[in-house]
Amino acid sequence: MTPSHDRLLIIDFGSQVTQLIARRLRELNVYCEIHPYQNVTDAFLKEFAPKAVIFSGGPASVIDEGSPRPPKSVFDLGVPILGICYGQQVMMHCLGGLVETGHGTAEFGRAFVTPKNDLPLLDGWFEQGDEQVWMSHGDHVSKIAPGFDVYGTSPNAPYAITADTDRKFFAVQFHPEVHHTPKGAKLYENFVRLAGFGGDWTMGAYREKMIAAIKKQVGDKKVICGLSGGVDSSVAAILLHEAIGENLTCVFVDHGLLRKNEAQDVVSMFREHYNLQLIHADESDLFLGELEGQSDPETKRKIIGKLFIDVFQKYADKVEGAEYLAQGTLYPDVIESVSFSGGPSVTIKSHHNVGGLPEKMGLKLVEPLRELFKDEVRELGRELGLPESFIGRHPFPGPGLAIRCPGEITRAKLDILREADAIYIDQIRKHGLYDEIWQAFVAILPVRTVGVMGDGRTYDYACALRAVTSVDGMTADYYPFDHDFLGETATRIINEVPGINRVTYDITSKPPGTIEWE
Ligand code: XMP
Repeated sequence: MTPSHDRLLIIDFGSQVTQLIARRLRELNVYCEIHPYQNVTDAFLKEFAPKAVIFSGGPASVIDEGSPRPPKSVFDLGVPILGICYGQQVMMHCLGGLVETGHGTAEFGRAFVTPKNDLPLLDGWFEQGDEQVWMSHGDHVSKIAPGFDVYGTSPNAPYAITADTDRKFFAVQFHPEVHHTPKGAKLYENFVRLAGFGGDWTMGAYREKMIAAIKKQVGDKKVICGLSGGVDSSVAAILLHEAIGENLTCVFVDHGLLRKNEAQDVVSMFREHYNLQLIHADESDLFLGELEGQSDPETKRKIIGKLFIDVFQKYADKVEGAEYLAQGTLYPDVIESVSFSGGPSVTIKSHHNVGGLPEKMGLKLVEPLRELFKDEVRELGRELGLPESFIGRHPFPGPGLAIRCPGEITRAKLDILREADAIYIDQIRKHGLYDEIWQAFVAILPVRTVGVMGDGRTYDYACALRAVTSVDGMTADYYPFDHDFLGETATRIINEVPGINRVTYDITSKPPGTIEWE
């Protein structure tokens, strides 16, 4: 489908922070896509028809033979171009400037840029004197290309900001997309304004566009969607439902490893509130039966993963005439990564949970969220009327409580765990801490300890409370609850949950720990 919105192309030369450029632009309601430089051919440019182009940074040196280049035709498109770091150097190199290495001009980290001349790209900059920027370069531009002038310098980058204002080509040595360039967002704002973007990328517009696109792709065919109760699959399901109504069937696999009331909450919300066709595949007996006696973490995960696929397929087969499988794949899952090692260089992450299923079942894919980042999915969820309690939920892993029950899983342990977890989350919500925490849960430990309650001896399970802060789940720190909160929560759990007589708090960060216990 031809897009109705203006598009900006980010040519990726392999920087670690290219995704941040896209974030900054999306925040400005500008639609952009990241494409590795290898894929950006003349034909691609013609087809994509960008309204502006950004060259990302990258680890290579333009001096090296075979280092990445944009296609020459990009400079003839007649659209504004912004080159960042390696992008600046490659732009200079291609347009007749000179890039050199050495001479002690490398800069890593904080630097300050001094203005030279006024430039609309820098509106709002230099109001309080020099601007802080973040540099990370070994090479440097030693001669700027014809047509360019200098607009800012730093101690080790005499050409920190250069521009050819006639052609609207801009080149900066620093990284405006990172947090440590405080006015970086303003620079992007100015760039897209100069390029004439109208800021037409809103969730309302996306919703309309996607509904039309789904209708066009799927027609009157049937679609199956796996629903986990998480934000991504919930938003994908509601969007599809708006587009194709009864032709959508969702399958919710209940593996018996969900939290207290979770299955009921998900089923009632989607059936009653959204009137969506939902198969509640209650297969807890199957999963818990296969897991019986298993205590090795990897074995447990493998059993669950395999059964999940089998069960999903079994129910999906019952949906007669289904031709499509919907997945809540997000943009970060589809961005192709740039490799400099040669050979086939792109890897695309496939979505977990239903990985491999479309091919196995001969289904085509519908991925209505593949242009979105996680926070955009949340915004779309709000737009679609999903309750805030669903949108702001902590992540919950596919294998569920199995990985919060180290050692052998039994129904009795799961019941105890569910009760303790519900109290812990209730405490966190009551104290207004839920949104400050990335993820919080209880793990039931495979150990029983002696206690005393009333006049009697107890011999019950110990549990661990876990709460972490994180931005992406890759690294995490434990949440610094105050002792009153911990004491009150421990007392509630021990008083209200038969089977637990000891509560501990896990203060391990990630690394060296992981967020989950298994
Ligand atoms: P770890 O424990 O590796 O977890 O620090 C990082 C994040 O990933 C979640 N997680 C999973 N999510 N399937 C999922 O969908 C899984 O198998 C899985 N294992 C861990 C975990 O909850 C945390 O948010």
